[in-house]
Amino acid sequence: MSPLFTPACVGSLSLPNRIVRSATGEKMCTPEGRVTPLLVEFYRRLALGGTGLIITGHSFVRPDGKASDGMMGVHSDRMLPGLKQLVGAVHEAGGRVVCQLNHAARQTKPELIGGKRPVAPSAVTDRASGLTPRELRADEIEPLIESYVAAARRCREAGFDGVQLHCAHGYLMSEFISPHTNRRTDEWGGSLEARARFPLEVLHRIRAEQGRDYPILVKLNAEDFIEGGLILAESCRIAAMMAGEGIDAIEISAGMAGTVDKIVRKHIDAPEKEAYFLPYAREFRRHVSVPLILVGGLRSLSVMADVLQSGAADFVSLSRPLIREPELPNKLRDGSTTRAACISCNCCGPDDAGRLACTLDLQLAKRAT
Ligand SMILES: Cc1cc2nc3c(=O)[nH]c(=O)nc-3n(C[C@H](O)[C@H](O)[C@H](O)COP(=O)(O)O)c2cc1C
Ligand code: SF4
Repeated sequence: MSPLFTPACVGSLSLPNRIVRSATGEKMCTPEGRVTPLLVEFYRRLALGGTGLIITGHSFVRPDGKASDGMMGVHSDRMLPGLKQLVGAVHEAGGRVVCQLNHAARQTKPELIGGKRPVAPSAVTDRASGLTPRELRADEIEPLIESYVAAARRCREAGFDGVQLHCAHGYLMSEFISPHTNRRTDEWGGSLEARARFPLEVLHRIRAEQGRDYPILVKLNAEDFIEGGLILAESCRIAAMMAGEGIDAIEISAGMAGTVDKIVRKHIDAPEKEAYFLPYAREFRRHVSVPLILVGGLRSLSVMADVLQSGAADFVSLSRPLIREPELPNKLRDGSTTRAACISCNCCGPDDAGRLACTLDLQLAKRAT
């Protein structure tokens, strides 16, 4: 049997296989962030498709941390009924689901957050949007930490099997960690330890409140791909610090809003182009023994199996392939395919009903009618 279909654990959570659905923002919630019936069905389908662990699209922990329209909210108890339905649908279908917690910081727009100026660790202009955020005052940091802790509490109440801290892609935690976006001279900036303090403090407090058994994962940037940004030698040390604070698994990614083309690479049409963050996983492995999850361009059964067999990672994580084929894990398991049908064109978007869908398939279906 392929190593992809051997069971494994993330902390106390037992998983039937090594396939993870990487967080993928579906933009299918109400403007307030409530789960819709459409989203519940979307997750049911994913769970029925055989993915071992589903990580939700990033979900805002506070209204000023909303990154886009339709993003899921975990900022208020008012969201609980919808969140419970989503989790219920996944569990009924035999799946496991972890909620990705996020605050967009400077990677949002004032019109999404009630006309407010976005806040960030430092007032560094985002080259992608041209937006310059307002620097957080020191007394504003504690309430932000609490919003993550409260969101984790809410996720547990909703029945989620764990939470994932989004420490990648240039959002708040990643902005604290990165020397490019964090120019603070107080205890939240400067040394690597001070830049890592915000996510570590959140992790520490969630762990203290939820206990050793509640799974807490992180998606961590290995590099920012920005001059003066985070580099691999530093991210490996942060991974070790997180392991020391009891993180249950580390998903490895890289890049910020200005370098999306490197996070979500196009045209993965040959095995050599797959697993594009594998060298980072190999390096992380030298520093930590916690389970590692590798994301980025995984498409074929053989490459995924090689990644696991080499010991570089314990799980593989997929985003775009599961948009096109939510049932891909079952197809790989029963041998009906050995490769994802996704061609990595990056045209995924809403269908007529507002569901996140494969636009390529929609075009093909239109041409056929
Ligand atoms: C439509 C879309 C939405 C995404 N939303 C998120 C998100 O909410 N959180 C996150 O960490 N990454 C997000 N990503 C990045 C993916 O999780 C993943 O890291 C990236 O697409 C590379 O994996 P892939 O080659 O399997 O698609 C998103 C990617 C896509 C295509
Ligand atoms: S539109 Fe379809 S084929 Fe293109 S990246 Fe998205 S899921 Fe893959």
